[in-house]
Amino acid sequence: MKNFLTLSDLSNKKIIDMIEEALAYKTGNLPMPKLDSTVASIFLEASTRTKTSFELAAHRSNNYVVHIEEKSSALTKGETFQDTLDTLAMLDVKAAVVRTTTEYFYEGLDTSQIKLINAGDGAHEHPSQCLLDLMTIYERFGKFEGLNILIMGDIKHSRVARSNIAAMERLGMNVAVYAPEIFKTDEDFNYVQDLERTLHTLDVVMLLRNQLERHEEATVNIQDQYLNLYGLTEERKNLLHEDAIIMHPGPFNRDVEIASSVLDDERNKIYEQVKNGLYARVAILNYVLGE
Ligand code: CP
Repeated sequence: MKNFLTLSDLSNKKIIDMIEEALAYKTGNLPMPKLDSTVASIFLEASTRTKTSFELAAHRSNNYVVHIEEKSSALTKGETFQDTLDTLAMLDVKAAVVRTTTEYFYEGLDTSQIKLINAGDGAHEHPSQCLLDLMTIYERFGKFEGLNILIMGDIKHSRVARSNIAAMERLGMNVAVYAPEIFKTDEDFNYVQDLERTLHTLDVVMLLRNQLERHEEATVNIQDQYLNLYGLTEERKNLLHEDAIIMHPGPFNRDVEIASSVLDDERNKIYEQVKNGLYARVAILNYVLGE
């Protein structure tokens, strides 16, 4: 059994093997594994897609799922996270899917008795989202090498951007980033200045939500003007190549980072990303719990 904490722990070959495994589950070419285990779902931060698809993936691969809610757990009584994990391990829980606001929450934890799956740690990483995003790109293009992607929006607070930029560059994609000044960071990203001139060069455009829940500065008042200044409007969408695809990890805010009308475009893969999340997460559970 292994932890699944960041795609940086996996070789390029292993990432592609897991994507091909997930695609085979999706097409029915490979039966779902029978893992016969117990998995804890510990979401200490809000989620719809990741929580639901991990829990469904666990059911579909023949696991029992227990739910740990922060408000009704002994974490509110001062029990440490390690003691909670050890308690679950005594009850024969083999893996815990964890979402938390605490970046690097897994550092220093003893995972010899129970394995951890990172379902998003603060603004740091979101490796299962990254795997399903890569799966969606691979499903459409059959490769990564040489593809041009622009990730645009609230880079500063985005764990999705951080996971994706690292993995996509490693897999040979040309990764550009576009963000308003307030959402840039001093990380070594390839920022572009001219959005309009970049859009027609892309194979993939990936939008990010303004993650207001992680903003320390008062940025709420930019929401009204955001679409016209920085978002994917209908006019900007029309600059994309006819073979390009539009992605977003979700949840999206209509008419903030993406115009509602863009969601109707046939190049929109956002709903396919959600669908792929189930199969990618079966592959992750098989990686952690399988033989
Ligand atoms: N993409 C994503 O992590 O969505 P949720 O917050 O709904 O899980």
